[in-house]
Amino acid sequence: MSAAPALQTIDLAAKAFWAQPQSERDAAFTVLRRENPVSWSRPAESDLLPPELNTKGFWSLTKVDDIRAASRNPRVFSSAEGITMEDFDPLMKEAAQSFIAMDAPRHTQLRGITLQAFTPANMRRIHGWVHEHVKALVDEMAPKGQADFVQDISVKLPGRIFSSFFGLEDGDRRDRTIQAAQDLLAWTDPEVAGEGEDAALALFAECVMTLHQTASELAEERRVKPGDDLMSWMLAAEWEGKKMTDDEICAFFVLLAVAANDTTRHSTAHAIHTFTRFPDQKALLLEDLDGRVEGAVEEVLRWSSPLLHMRRTATEDVVVRDAEIKAGDKVVLWYCSGNRDEDHFDDPFRFDILRDRNQHVAFGGGGPHFCLGAALARQMLKYVLYEVYGRIPDIEAPEPDFLVANFINGVKSLPATWTPEAR
Ligand code: HEM
Repeated sequence: MSAAPALQTIDLAAKAFWAQPQSERDAAFTVLRRENPVSWSRPAESDLLPPELNTKGFWSLTKVDDIRAASRNPRVFSSAEGITMEDFDPLMKEAAQSFIAMDAPRHTQLRGITLQAFTPANMRRIHGWVHEHVKALVDEMAPKGQADFVQDISVKLPGRIFSSFFGLEDGDRRDRTIQAAQDLLAWTDPEVAGEGEDAALALFAECVMTLHQTASELAEERRVKPGDDLMSWMLAAEWEGKKMTDDEICAFFVLLAVAANDTTRHSTAHAIHTFTRFPDQKALLLEDLDGRVEGAVEEVLRWSSPLLHMRRTATEDVVVRDAEIKAGDKVVLWYCSGNRDEDHFDDPFRFDILRDRNQHVAFGGGGPHFCLGAALARQMLKYVLYEVYGRIPDIEAPEPDFLVANFINGVKSLPATWTPEAR
């Protein structure tokens, strides 16, 4: 880890903070956990709102216990005002965030409908897709001997799974939709969004529109001719006599495009990079892939925190430690910090796949918004580790190019080399 910065120099609101290497950000969060675990920041520097609308600062929760307590108390820590440190235009929020940015009873109802679509039989079908796609991608990559792991596996895998989810056939619409899902969360990176004042917002709006268009076309098509896919299951699902409206289906499609796509994409890249960084842990994994793969998945999730934060808004005055949070204040839950909390994890800066009781907060701190796709995400990572290390165990990927972002812990590229598998 880098040298500890002075407390007063730490500025989580600055874009420059998120452009630093992870070791420097980790050092800053360590100082916060120790010296000021619930701290106040000025408004986050934003690409999505003009300065006159971007007036609200935010509190940061950096300790696991506080993150868990806030996550499990949605009456006081509401999701309805938005779930990112940066505010969104309200119309965009409604169009893009679905029930992740709602409270009960609307959240309960929409999540309830969604859960009806994930029956055990449908989950088996989904797991089948996942394994099939992982295998096919590793088949394509293994004989090459070198590739950008992000392009060959991390990007393609969630794209293909997302296509199976919604029964998107190969072609322009599928490619356009997957591209939009991939670009949606990269607004803070000028290399993706382009330079210029409105570039980030324009990219974001365009992605949302593309995803809405695909979702409404698919909904219409599946109403006429249901298929064996999530869109058809969603259209049929109901909870307490209610189905989703078309607008709700479109917003859910956007939520899923992000939730199922970006997070898994980056976690597979982090996995391969992290095992390259820590060859002793890779050796342990290879010694007993069957027995250790699940521990490895949990440790990769803790280590990488693919989602760096989620945000809540206080509905009433509340004191956390000695911070006096006022009704209406934004409260950011830093999973990346919770996952290095010294009071919770032994030797938190050690990557250790044999870690006991690895109760990380990569999927959130519990409560009603706990990641709906946690089981699926674990399954995806597990199959990737199995197939990659089972078939090309000497793969090395030491030099990632990281995304500059305060929400997603992203990897833009990851050149990798290995002994090619004989065809
Ligand atoms: C490594 C991969 C993933 C990570 C790290 C991750 C992380 C998270 C986190 C931190 C939350 C918010 C928890 C909270 O606010 O308390 C969340 C919510 C959610 N995730 Fe995931 N996720 C992943 C994969 C997936 C996948 C594959 C799906 C698709 C099925 C998915 C669907 C969702 C949905 C729908 C929500 C909103 C739940 C709600 O508000 O009720 N996630 N995820």
